[in-house]
Formats: sequence, C-alpha cells, structure tokens
Amino acid sequence: MNLLSERTAKLGSENAFKLGAIIAEAEAMGIDVIKFNLGEPDFDTPKFICDAAAESLAKGNTHYCAPGGIKPLLEVLARQISETRRIPIDPSHIVVTTGAKPPISYSLLTYVNPGDEVIYPSPGFPIYESWTTFVDAKPVPLHLQEEKGFRFTADELEKLITPKTKLIIINSPSNPTGGVLSKDDLESIAEVINAKCDDNVRVYSDEVYENILFDGSKHSSIASAKKMQDKTIIVSGFSKSYAMTGWRLGYAVLPTKLEAEAFTNLNINIISCTSPFSQVAGVEAFENKQSEQVIHTMVQNFEERRNYAVPAFNAIEGITCANPTGAFYVFPNIEGVCQQLGIFEAYNQLPAETIVKTSPSKLFQMFLLFHHGVATMDRNSFGRIGAEDLHFIRLSTATDLESIKQGIGRIKEAAADKAGFLDFMAKAEHLY
Ligand SMILES: Cc1ncc(COP(=O)(O)O)c(C=O)c1O
Repeated sequence: MNLLSERTAKLGSENAFKLGAIIAEAEAMGIDVIKFNLGEPDFDTPKFICDAAAESLAKGNTHYCAPGGIKPLLEVLARQISETRRIPIDPSHIVVTTGAKPPISYSLLTYVNPGDEVIYPSPGFPIYESWTTFVDAKPVPLHLQEEKGFRFTADELEKLITPKTKLIIINSPSNPTGGVLSKDDLESIAEVINAKCDDNVRVYSDEVYENILFDGSKHSSIASAKKMQDKTIIVSGFSKSYAMTGWRLGYAVLPTKLEAEAFTNLNINIISCTSPFSQVAGVEAFENKQSEQVIHTMVQNFEERRNYAVPAFNAIEGITCANPTGAFYVFPNIEGVCQQLGIFEAYNQLPAETIVKTSPSKLFQMFLLFHHGVATMDRNSFGRIGAEDLHFIRLSTATDLESIKQGIGRIKEAAADKAGFLDFMAKAEHLY
C-alpha cells in the first residue's frame, strides 16, 4: 500500500514559495543575497487599512462569518467591479476567497472533467498548470512570445481551441512577463471565443495586477467585451494593489448565481470562510480615498524601476529583455548567456537523474544565487510543458532601486564568469 495517493504526484507547485529555504542555505554560507524572487510589493499595507482591521478585531470580530463573504464587502466589490468593467454585477455572483489563488483550483474543480482541455498562458502563473494536471485535464499551454511583448493574438488562441476545450485562462497584466493585453486584443480574442466555443466554455480572467500598469495604459477586462460577461470568471484581489499579501483576500465574480454557489460550497468544504477582519480591511481599502494615492505611488516606483532594469538588462552581452507594461516583473531571455557560459553543454552532460530535476535556466539561477548572490526564478517555474528550449529568468522589481542596480551589476558579472560557472558545475553541490 502506498502512503501518498496517486493524485498527490500530479499536483505541481509554486517554486517562489520554495526558494526561501535554498536562499537561507546560501545565506548560511555567508553569501549576501539580493532577492528578486518574491512576487509581492515591497511596501507595507497602508496604515489606514491596518487600523480598520485592528478596530474590527478590538470589537470582537473574530468569529466565523458568511462563507461567500461579508455583505459590506460583496456590495462594495459589486459596485467597484460594475464601474471599472462597465458591466452590471450583482453581489450574489461574487465569492470572497483567501487570496486570488483559490479561485484557480475552484475553477478547475467546478468546470473541468478528466480529459477536458485547459488553455493557459506559458510562461504563466504556475498554479494554472499545477491544477490542470491535478484534475487529469489535458494541459494546452499557449506559448507567449518575447518578440510580441508576451501578448498573444486571437489567431494564436484559435489554433488551440478544439471541441474539448473547457477552460481558457488569461492573465493580464501577466506574472511573470508583465505583458498586457489591450482592449483591442481582448475584443478580438473574445470574438474568437464567441465564434468557436460552446456557451459552457469558461474564460478565467486573472486580473490580480489590474492596478499596476505603466506608460499611462489602462486595464481592460475580457468580461467587458461583447457577450463575454456570461462566460467569464473575473478574479482579482487585494494582495498586489494594496500590498496585502499576508491578509489572504481575493474574490471571484461568477457568470451565474449557480456557479457562485458552487464556489461558496468549495469555501465551506475547504476554508469555511475568509477571516472577517481581513474583509473589513478590504472594504476600507476600496472605500478610503487615500488608496488612490497609495496605489499611484507604488506604481510610480515600479515604473521607475522597470525604466532602469530593462535597458540595463539589454546592455548585458547575451541577454535580451522585453519591456513590460504592467505588474512588477521583468523576464529577460538568457539564451545567449547559456551559450557563452557553456551552460547547454554542462546541462547535456549531467546524469539522467539530475537532468530531470533541472534545466539550463535553472543552472544559471543556482549559479547566480550561490556564486553571485542574486536570487531569481527560472523559466520552468512558470509552466514546464513545452518549455524545454526556452531560457529565461524572472526578476521581481518589488525591490528598492539601489538593490536593483547592484543586482543587475552582479548578473552582468555572472554572465561573463565562465570560470566561475565551471567551478560551480565542478562542485556539483547545488544542482537540485
Ligand atoms: C497571476 C497571479 N494570480 C494569482 C496570484 C495569487 O494572489 P494571492 O496572493 O492574492 O492569492 C498571484 C500571486 O502571485 C499571481 O501572480
């Protein structure tokens, strides 16, 4: 009898959460590490939001609450989403969750049978692929192209749609690329979906970075496109816009009440409810006029850092870097570095049991960490399927500008440090 169920092995993970232990190992060796691995704003939650939660706690708001979300938050959300997406939203279609992550699993569990096809962006948030394989659906990665700024066209999507397509996941602004789909992109994507898909196909629109946009661009939701509200699950949350990652507060807007009830029942089965005082904080975040300025300041910082990082990467021999228009990541292509450091040869010579655990970009990621003190994420942490010949790293720019300057300086040195890389491989201590 096996200890773990067969399905346990089918669940992927989010390596950003696992890297902490490896960074701690590097730090214990005395390495000073500049961290570009974390996907969370380097700002604290605004005080007025913390105060609202503290006051609520002091009043004894420490009990279970409604499983789908407290009424004041559902009402505020319905109003805000109706305004920003220009579609009428009823509070009964909204389900509050512990962050924007649970609606991913809820959607895979609610809509998808084994053998159904799920289209999702790659590189993309790793949890999409993780849950697709977990429910025995067929993963259909939509490979985003660097030369298109990691946007995709309706034609590219159309080629992947089949009669078995059940769920189409899109994420704009995107983690890990910072790519943003314009209103026109979304409208032509919606046309293809309306023309080619059954009415029971759902579009999962992950809009968690909706407020983090650069160069004056505005957020668009596919739910606002013609005939799409009835097919789209809008998902967003408070983690990124209000620097509230630890509060675990997000939500899904479902096309029908029936689907909202299914999500609420998953809440009941898994979490019971989202902490009521976090939800009170969420109401404050939306209602308090100071939020606008807080978001503006954060976005200005992220934009300033992007403006430094992208040209600095493009000036490094062996690296090209697309210009992200949203979120707080850059996603440089390191294929040239892999060539100049001999990473491909080193990878091909690894024993079979090591090869399955790593990739050229992961070798570079570990070399950067243990030899140059820079923590990044590798390409395969954002969807593995079909990504064998793609060589990128992700850096979060949710780090102060001085650290970004220093960190990119270290990456420049690493990109030319062939002797160091040979030494790293010869030691074979951190090949994971
Ligand atoms: C694209 C995307 N979706 C969802 C999430 C999950 O957000 P939360 O922390 O609110 O659960 C993240 C977090 O990194 C993300 O990048």
